[in-house]
Amino acid sequence: MSTESTKIRKDIVKRYMEKTVKSRRLYERAKRIFPGGGTRNVANFYPYAFYTSHGSGFHVYDVDGNEYIDCNNNMCSLLHGHSFPPVLNAISSQLSKGTAHSTPTEVQLDFAQLLVNRVSSLDEIRFCASGSEATMFPLRLARVVSGQNKIIKFDGSYHGSTDYVHTNVCADYKYKNPPNLNPELGFSPGLRDHILITPINDIEYLKELISSNKDDIAAMIIEPVINRVGMSATQEYMKEVRTITQEFGIYLIFDEVITFRHALGGFQEFLDIEPDLTSFGKCIGGGLPIGAFGGKGELMEWFNPTREPHLSHSGSYNGNSISMCAGIAALQHYNQKEIDNITHWGSLLATGLKKIIQDTNFPAHVTQAGSLVYLHIFRGNYANARDYGLNLLSNYPILRYLHLELLNQGIYVYHKSCIEYILSTVMNQPLIHTILEKTREALEIVQPLFMKENNES
Ligand SMILES: Cc1ncc(COP(=O)(O)O)c(C=O)c1O
Repeated sequence: MSTESTKIRKDIVKRYMEKTVKSRRLYERAKRIFPGGGTRNVANFYPYAFYTSHGSGFHVYDVDGNEYIDCNNNMCSLLHGHSFPPVLNAISSQLSKGTAHSTPTEVQLDFAQLLVNRVSSLDEIRFCASGSEATMFPLRLARVVSGQNKIIKFDGSYHGSTDYVHTNVCADYKYKNPPNLNPELGFSPGLRDHILITPINDIEYLKELISSNKDDIAAMIIEPVINRVGMSATQEYMKEVRTITQEFGIYLIFDEVITFRHALGGFQEFLDIEPDLTSFGKCIGGGLPIGAFGGKGELMEWFNPTREPHLSHSGSYNGNSISMCAGIAALQHYNQKEIDNITHWGSLLATGLKKIIQDTNFPAHVTQAGSLVYLHIFRGNYANARDYGLNLLSNYPILRYLHLELLNQGIYVYHKSCIEYILSTVMNQPLIHTILEKTREALEIVQPLFMKENNES
C-alpha cells in the first residue's frame, strides 16, 4: 500500500473517530459485555458503529449529536422512516390495553385480512416473531407434506439464522461448478446432505440438480432479489422455476421478507407468479418485531391444531398486539402511490449514481430494485452471486473506507458486499439530490485508493 493510500485511509478513520467520541466510549464499554461490542453482527462495522440516540423521519442522530440521512432504515424494516406518526399513534392507543395476550385478538384478524387481501397466493396466514421463523415454518411444512427432506436454495441468499438455511449466505467462491455447500460455523453436519445449492438465473443447472435428486426434494426457497448483492431473478427464469417445481411436486417458497415492499402484492405480483408459500417480515411490522407466513389453504391447514396430525406452531409473541397495530398502520400508509413515489426516487438515485460514476470514472456500477439501490464497487460481468464475489474480492477492503466516508458525509448506509441505499416514504426528491451530492464527495475522496492500489498490484 502506498503512503498516499495509507494517508487517505487514516484520514477517513480519524475524521470518523473525531466526530464519534461518545460512541467510541460506549463501544469500549460494550466490548466488556457484548462479544465484539454489539448484539447484532450484521450491524457491526469498522472501526465501530456509532451509537444511535434517536431517529426522526429520514434522519438518525448519534449520541455525539451528529445527524445522518438514514438510508438503512433498520435493514429495510422501516418503510416510513423513524417515528412515523400513524405508527406511533397506533402503538400508543394500544399500549394501555396491553402489549401481548395469549388468546386471539381482533387486531390479528384485521392484519391477517389486510395481508391476505393484498397477496393473491395467500389463502391463510400465520404470524410469528421474526423473518427467520417465517422461513423456517414453511420449510418444515414442505418437508412434512412432501415426505421429503431436501431443500434447494440460491447460492448467496440469506433466509435468517435457522439451521436449514444457515449456509451459502456468502456464495461459494472456492469451486467453479457446482457451487459447494459453504456453511456458516455451527451449521448442523446432519443437514449437509439435505441442502442443494443452485446459482441464480441458471435454469439448466437447476434442471440438472432437480433431475438428479428428483425423488428427495421438498421445497425450493427463493429470495427473488438476492439482497446482499442486489441481483434479481429474471421473470423468464422464475416462470421456468414455477413450471419445473410444479412438474416435480416441489413446493416453491418465496422469501419476501425484503421484497414485499416492491409491489402491493409483493414481488410475486410483479413477476406474475404464485408460489405455494410465502415468508414475510421486516417492513410489514411497521418497525416492530414480526414475521408471517402463508399460502394455499390445503397446506396451511397442517397447522390447524384440531386436526391430526398437525404441525406445531407456537411463539409467545406471535401476533402480539403492538406489532399488529404498528403493521396495520404502516401498510395502510403504503399503497400504490407510496410505492410509485419511492420507486421513482430509487430510479432518480440510480440514474444519478450512474452519472457520478461516469463523471468520476469510479470503478463501480449500480443496480436497482424499486426503492433499493445498490452501488457495487467494481466493474465487470457476473451472472450469479459467486461471480459477483470473485469480482468484488480485490476491492472489498476499500468498501469499508467508502462506507466510513459516507458516514463522514452524513449518510448512513448498509455495506456488506455493496453500498445499499434503502429508501423510505418520508424522503423526497431534494433529499435524493443531497444524497447524490454527498455520495459524490465520498467517492471522490475514496477514488485514489483504487488507482494507487491497482497500480501497485
Ligand atoms: C430475505 C430475508 N429473509 C429472512 C430474514 C430474517 O429476518 P429476521 O432478521 O427478522 O429474522 C432476513 C433478514 O435480514 C432477510 O433479509
